[in-house]
Amino acid sequence: MDAEVVFSPSGLRGSVPLGTTVLDAARMLGVDLDSVCGGRGICGRCQVIPARRAVLGEWSATEANYAGRRPIDANGRLGCSALIAGDATIEVPPQSQLHRPVIRKAIDLTNLVIDPVVRLYYAELETPVLGDDRSELRRLIDALTETFGLASLTIDPIPLRSLQPALAENEHRGVTVAVHHDAHIIAVWSGFVEVAYGVAIDVGSTTLAGHLCDLATGEVIATAGLMNPQIRFGEDLMSRVSYVMMHPTGARELTNSVRDALNKLVATLTDSVGVRPDRICDVVIVANPIMHHLLLGIDPTPLGTAPFTLATDLPYDARAADIELDCDVAQLHMLPCIAGHVGADTAAMVLAVGPHRSDDLMLLIDVGTNAEIVLGNSKQLFAASSPTGPAFEGAQLSCGQRATPGAIERVRINRETLEPDVSTIGDASVTGVCGSGIIETIGELFLAGVIAADGTIDGGAATRSRRVVADGRTFAYVLREEHPRLLITQNDVRAIQLAKAALHAGVKLLLDRAGISEVTSVRLAGAFGSHIDPVYALLLGLIPDCDPNTVRSVGNAAGSGAVWALLSGAARVEIAEVARSIVKIETALEPAFQTHFIDAMGFPHSTDAYPRLAKVVTFPRPSTTNDGRRRRQRRMHNMQTQEDA
Ligand code: FES
Repeated sequence: MDAEVVFSPSGLRGSVPLGTTVLDAARMLGVDLDSVCGGRGICGRCQVIPARRAVLGEWSATEANYAGRRPIDANGRLGCSALIAGDATIEVPPQSQLHRPVIRKAIDLTNLVIDPVVRLYYAELETPVLGDDRSELRRLIDALTETFGLASLTIDPIPLRSLQPALAENEHRGVTVAVHHDAHIIAVWSGFVEVAYGVAIDVGSTTLAGHLCDLATGEVIATAGLMNPQIRFGEDLMSRVSYVMMHPTGARELTNSVRDALNKLVATLTDSVGVRPDRICDVVIVANPIMHHLLLGIDPTPLGTAPFTLATDLPYDARAADIELDCDVAQLHMLPCIAGHVGADTAAMVLAVGPHRSDDLMLLIDVGTNAEIVLGNSKQLFAASSPTGPAFEGAQLSCGQRATPGAIERVRINRETLEPDVSTIGDASVTGVCGSGIIETIGELFLAGVIAADGTIDGGAATRSRRVVADGRTFAYVLREEHPRLLITQNDVRAIQLAKAALHAGVKLLLDRAGISEVTSVRLAGAFGSHIDPVYALLLGLIPDCDPNTVRSVGNAAGSGAVWALLSGAARVEIAEVARSIVKIETALEPAFQTHFIDAMGFPHSTDAYPRLAKVVTFPRPSTTNDGRRRRQRRMHNMQTQEDA
């Protein structure tokens, strides 16, 4: 006798014999229903919710005695125990789906379907008897094949050594195994282990950021950051490459330094939530090309000179122990670098933001010491890196600092009195000005007519306010009079002009190559991208003119992409394919870069109009005494007015 069973939300249906467990029925019909313990009533992962009229058997003793960490829902049943007793419609809730959508989002995991490459399976092995000469490993593989359909399993030496002690540790001879890609046993633990953990790490040239995740639920359990200790070898990447070139042991020192920091970061993550490091089963790392190579112990010097050749642009899989991480069983996956200056961190950003999944033309920018720029849509992506230098991160500016508590991040300046109104990160006492604060100050001074379109601080404004002061042969604006006294000097403005011109020129090269003149949407990533106000990014001409409402911050997209890759094998395949198809543009070798760079020095731009921006801000009328500057300003003002009309 058969019953008609329908599973929701998949809609999969079919006939199954009466007396079949719901879990077996799900497997017969190809329904996504989780099970770690193989139907022993331990894990609670198989819970289902029968519809009101569903005909299931009585509560079993297993369900009655169930005491796992996931209590049975008021209307729920354990799928491995509940028997089909008649026609039934059965819901599989998200938490019981093997490929479940993300429910909690510590970082942006929208649209990610969890599909980790390491899964846990629980098995209880028969006690050996005379006449059954199978090894313990053979028994384990037989049990996993029979219960979970896993075939052709192999095993690492470490779990093989722990198999017999683990079996001996509990009377049921029950073990939980962690299996990589459903093919390779990487860990064996005695008894039932509920959670396998993974760590996703973004190795930046300044900071390392890590996320500890539950591989099955996708929950981000802990997040931690650490300064990259390689800074002592050089603030920027190229000075670290120079260090390697000039010191015979330099590469090894830099490799050791970042590997030590990774171990500290992982320890911080696990200690913060009391997770044993040996429960970390998978590690995903993304990094820029130089950090990527140093981490793997590869000489980065070819990346310091043209043609900037990578040692590898393939995804890299190994054991975490191979890069000296103190996680005995963990596997390692590194996303692929895209080009000599465009790294796996950019690949991760693409994966998380998904320009390749959209028909809209998207411009995606991560601003750091270099700006990584990606342009395109589902048809084609283009990528480049532009040498913006550290100004956007507050470095090399008279009052600059990183975006940490105490940094001024928001600035408004009264157009008449030139008095500023500022706010700091974390509402802390003022210590300096971060990149977004500098951008806003310069933008406000431009709108107030104190800074001209060519970037010159107008000394004539000293008659309007005591805040404009002589500073040698140029002028400066006093953003803060009391201690610490903070000035925006002419050199600061020039440093920002050089940085923004490099960024804009890189964007222009990509637009040229794509054969388009404007984009539909802009996404700003990274710490700077998260803090910057789109209107001010446009006002200073960091990006080409567009509707400010289409410019959005996407936070630490590289870190989000690393978590995506940690939680989804399909995502790893996806980004490996996309990375190979991206058209790379080497800004240093493009003749047009210099022209674009010079044109981009003015505010917002020396030659391009900004009609969409002009809809939301009122540009200043030319007011300086410099004739050439006044002509340029008038030309720009006229262009904008015409476009507006
Ligand atoms: Fe583990 Fe049902 S499969 S409790």
